[in-house]
Amino acid sequence: MFLRENEIGGRLAPHLEEGTTVLDVGSGTGRIARWLADRVGVRPTLADVIEFDNRVLDLPYVRLDDPLALPFPDRSFDTVLMLFVLHHLERWEDQETIVREAARVTGRRLLIIEDTPTSRLDRAMNVAWDWVLNLRHGVPTPFTFRTVDGWTDVFERSGLRVEHAETYRARWPTLMTYHHTLFVLEPVRG
Ligand SMILES: C[S@@+](CC[C@H](N)C(=O)[O-])C[C@H]1O[C@@H](n2cnc3c(N)ncnc32)[C@H](O)[C@@H]1O
Repeated sequence: MFLRENEIGGRLAPHLEEGTTVLDVGSGTGRIARWLADRVGVRPTLADVIEFDNRVLDLPYVRLDDPLALPFPDRSFDTVLMLFVLHHLERWEDQETIVREAARVTGRRLLIIEDTPTSRLDRAMNVAWDWVLNLRHGVPTPFTFRTVDGWTDVFERSGLRVEHAETYRARWPTLMTYHHTLFVLEPVRG
């Protein structure tokens, strides 16, 4: 799966600076954070509600006991990542709660990538891949996807400004069968 890290890391890298701190919420294996540490020089902390048996072991890790709260002070990391996490929350309102938590703990920026199917065929492919890829780790798959406009509304309601959004067909591992969107978000603070 090194191809996946290259593809996703390459999209995130332009929005990260060397030496800055990154909280990776829903880090899974931690391999994307590992890639960003090696190639960009960021300083990641991993956090997840599920213990992955193949997680990288040489990065700081925080086990999240509460799926709707991040146990960190306000603005404690330069950047927060949430990559393919939000559609694993079953309740729409819980997605908004965790987005607000991420907005609270970031100092500068929040980078979110979500599955954003654009048609019925796209969604069918997305559902199939999501189920297959998450089965092994026991990650729930309620398929609570939203459109780009739907996510934009959530982010704006959560006090975030969309600085940049790019929708693309991911090559790895899903072979360009449906769309992902990277959102670059900044907190609007008075
Ligand atoms: C599809 S995996 C993505 C893992 C990793 N971000 C990546 O892209 O390789 C979704 C991850 O979100 C995590 N997750 C689900 N709900 C969460 C929550 N409320 N807080 C933090 N992590 C959560 C799961 O445990 C899982 O690791």
